[in-house]
Order: sequence, then C-alpha cells, then structure tokens
Amino acid sequence: MTKPLPRRILFVDDEPAMTQLGKVVLERAGHSCSLATNGDEALRMLLEVPPDLVILDYMMPGMSGPEVFRHLRNDPPYAAIRDIPVLMLTAKSDNDTERRDLLESGLAAYLSKPFGHRELLNIIENTLITWEVQKQARQTLENTRGAYLGAIQVTLEAIAQNPYLKENTGLLQNCALALAHEYRMDPQETETLRLAAMLHDIGKVKLSDELINFSGRLDSVQVAEIRNHVEYGVAILQKIPQLQDVAALVACHHERIDGTGYPKGLTAEEIPLGARILAVIDAFEAMTSGRPYRSAMTKEEAIDHLRLESGTHFDADVVEYFIESLERSFSQG
Ligand SMILES: [Fe+2]
Repeated sequence: MTKPLPRRILFVDDEPAMTQLGKVVLERAGHSCSLATNGDEALRMLLEVPPDLVILDYMMPGMSGPEVFRHLRNDPPYAAIRDIPVLMLTAKSDNDTERRDLLESGLAAYLSKPFGHRELLNIIENTLITWEVQKQARQTLENTRGAYLGAIQVTLEAIAQNPYLKENTGLLQNCALALAHEYRMDPQETETLRLAAMLHDIGKVKLSDELINFSGRLDSVQVAEIRNHVEYGVAILQKIPQLQDVAALVACHHERIDGTGYPKGLTAEEIPLGARILAVIDAFEAMTSGRPYRSAMTKEEAIDHLRLESGTHFDADVVEYFIESLERSFSQG
C-alpha cells in the first residue's frame, strides 16, 4: 500500500544544526531530503519539486511554521499539493490553542523538540502510512459517489426517452450552481441543490404513459395524479440514505411563496431556500426549452415571466439573484 523508499522530504528549520542533523538521519534511513531555512524558501521549493512529506519548524523568524502550513493548505498555487502530509516540530512553550486548530485543519502530527532519531523516523513512517490509508479511503468514497451518480444519470436518460419528460439537466445544474454561489452555500449544500436540480421530477417515472402523453385538456383527476409526482419522487429518494436532504428539497419544489402551491400549500420561508431556488430554475428551464406541446420562449421572455410572478409564485430575492447571475453569464458570452 505504501510507496517504497526513498520518500522525498522537505525539512524546514531556521537552525542549520537541526536541518543538517535531520538530513543525515533521513538519508541514512533511505529518504531523500531537501532543506529550507525559512518559510519563503520552503513555499518556493514546494512548487518546484513537491515532496512526499514536509517537516516544518513551528517557530521561525519571518514566516512561522503555521503560516507556511496555511499558505500550503489555502493558497491557489498549492491547490494540487495541498494534501501533502505536514509534521510540525514544536517546543513546549508554543501556543496550545493554535496547535489544536492546526490539527483540525489537517496537520498530520507534532513532534516535540528535543527528539531522538528513532522517534523522528517512526513518526514519519506512521504519518505516511496514515496518509496513504486516508487517500485510498477518499478514492473509494469518490468511486462510490461516481457510481451512484452514474446510476442516477442513466435513470434520467431513460426517462428522457419520452419527449414530454425530457429536461435540460445540464442547464438546471448550472443554474443551481450559480445560485448556490450567489447564496454562498457551503460545498454540502451546493451538492444537495445540484442533485435536487437533477432529480426534482424523478417521481414522474411512476406516472402512466397514457397520462404523460395525454394531449387534451386534463381533468381534475389527471391533474391530481400529475401533482403526485412530488410525493412519488420523495418516496424514491428517501430509499437512499445519502439523499435525504435532496428529498427534502424535492418535496417542496412546487410550493409557491403565496401558499397556492402543492402538496402542502407552504408559504414564504416555510419553503426551504433550496426548494425556492428549484422553483425558479425549473420554471426557467421549462420556459426556455421546447416541449412537443409548445415552443420555447426566449431568455428575455422567460425573465419577464419570472418577474411577473415574483413575490407570488416565486421568491422575489431568488428571482433577482437568478436574473443577475444570468445577465453575468450573458455578458461573459
Ligand atoms: Fe415537478
């Protein structure tokens, strides 16, 4: 599972005696070791030849070890290597609260000075093994997620064989991501909204072909059955434990701000923000994509319609944020 020696290690400490000693110990153990004497030099070397592990002294003149660590974790130039495991060398006098914060932000471990050769080599080996295990766990999670999203996509494509049910899921997802950004949603909320945008009408798979393809005027029984697609969709999604948040949004995507929506007749903020967003982007997608029974509106006509129903059908703030994000994407071509 672990990579064979030698590992490339970057040792950063302002005390030459410490780095020289570290280099001898590490190289004798089969690793290759680069040295930096300050934070700026370390950050430059990290980009030049990314190491497998970094050892950072906590207290250094100029940029401290924690500052170097935060640059590595947060700054865009280091995005591809921000997960490199980092060990920090500390003295007893260092700040305990900051030490805890650093561990919470992903620092691999501390090693208190003074330490023995064996102690240094053991902590390096343990850190690298743990890092490999975590990397494989992340990869497994990513593969699993990819598999279930693939299954969802296949299901949606099967549904889209019927031109009455066909939706532009790419447009819906892009609109969802744009509004998640406007509302500064965190990654989890953003993903929930994106999946809800993909899946909000999945309950239509339970409607009969006869009803889906019906081209005349619907009677009240047929309207009620079509409206049932919300509850059918929620029932499907609730079977998947990871999609409970998505189901909660899908449950409310036909609610209206003025309380005249369905299935519950919720009003205003009784409707979750994500569902208020879904209502707007679903309407926009439906208006701008043609269906067998009507032609597509232009974007401008669809925007006029959203504004007309802003505050009654749709959340007025969501409508304005949505129009702003659309106009930005128009102006960017
Ligand atoms: Fe729907």
